[in-house]
Amino acid sequence: MAVHETTATERVIADRERYVARGVATTPLVVARAEGARVWDVDGREYVDFAGGLGCQNTGHGFAAGAIHEQVDRYLHQCFMVGMYEPYVEVCKLLDETWPGDRQTKSLLVNSGAEAVENAVKIARTATRRPAVIVFDHAFHGRTSLTMAMTAKVVPYKQGFGPFPGEVYRSAAPYPYRGVSSDDALESLSHLFKQDVDPATVACIVLEPVQGEGGFVDMPVDFPRRLKEICEQHRILYVDDEVQAGVGRTGPVWAIEHYGVEPDLIVSGKSLGGGLPLAGVTGGIDLIDSVPAGGLGGTFGGNPLACVAAIEVLREVKGDAFRNHADELGARIRSRLEQLAARNAAVGEVRGLGPMLALELTEPTPDLAKAVTSAARDRGLILLSCGIYGNVIRILVPLTIDDVLLERGLDLLEESLGDARAG
Ligand SMILES: Cc1ncc(COP(=O)(O)O)c(C=O)c1O
Repeated sequence: MAVHETTATERVIADRERYVARGVATTPLVVARAEGARVWDVDGREYVDFAGGLGCQNTGHGFAAGAIHEQVDRYLHQCFMVGMYEPYVEVCKLLDETWPGDRQTKSLLVNSGAEAVENAVKIARTATRRPAVIVFDHAFHGRTSLTMAMTAKVVPYKQGFGPFPGEVYRSAAPYPYRGVSSDDALESLSHLFKQDVDPATVACIVLEPVQGEGGFVDMPVDFPRRLKEICEQHRILYVDDEVQAGVGRTGPVWAIEHYGVEPDLIVSGKSLGGGLPLAGVTGGIDLIDSVPAGGLGGTFGGNPLACVAAIEVLREVKGDAFRNHADELGARIRSRLEQLAARNAAVGEVRGLGPMLALELTEPTPDLAKAVTSAARDRGLILLSCGIYGNVIRILVPLTIDDVLLERGLDLLEESLGDARAG
């Protein structure tokens, strides 16, 4: 009788099940190594990576490794509040240089997207002396207490975790494929002002230019501008959550550049640290400096390793070569997805901005999308789903991927959809 030898993957999964919290959901992939847009598992199997560590590898795995190695030998954690260091300041300078508007800015660096969103709200509340925050349907802003309240999906993000902080109000977001236009969304906002919250008490609205976890719903071209006009009318601050859509994911450094709107605050994260934990809040000097010294910060915020990586990342994504490649990639992926959609009745819509693209399946349940991502893994492609119904297949491929590997990944995606529909 053949004896099944335990694989390295099986061994790690068994230990993971024994020792790691169930609440942290995982796929069966156990990573050993990654480079560019390729990942290898602990059993030596190679994958094309269409997930990029959940959108944190816009410049590719290992992109800033050289700068990180050099920094390791210089110094590690200092705590910026105890002993300043130049890489933190340089990241803030680069965030100022990439600001999509004319004003001079300052930034604060923290560890995660959720922490950055929380700090954006702290800044907005201090500057306006108003309490309320408006968020949108299908939003995802994080998993901390305040950002959970701002996030728009009960299972798995909110169920059982209440009570949630108050003064968070939700308005409809445009979702043309499911019948919600910009007009409908703005009507919902004016209804909210009549029914639930006095606009004179609203500190900020927080919007993702392309809703990420909510299903890669890119905002219609008129929506951010019209929303900004309403904000100006009521002196509400416009907070642009670019944690997933920013740092080159849609082509330009910030996705809001597609809309020609200058927000009041930009929240960045994910790919900013090139694979190390780093997030930021950037805005006009007076706004950021409305908080007195000591009101912002944290032990590890703006860790030196993450900062040297972010310097490399920001210099890269603000360059023309990166932008041109991202634009080409976007056109190429969109055309392949549209061909695939034309051949597959299960695909309802291809959407997104630049290379931040997704397929929404017609069935508003997660079943088929789960089967596709699982078939993709079996075929050697790392693929993620998202969306309020869990039925959107999203592409977060490192934007430095070459054409041959991209085509291979797209072939695997199409084959996986075929497997899932046949299965
Ligand atoms: C738009 C957006 N905001 C905030 C967050 C929270 O970021 P983090 O998971 O780093 O706390 C995410 C994470 O997916 C996000 O997509």
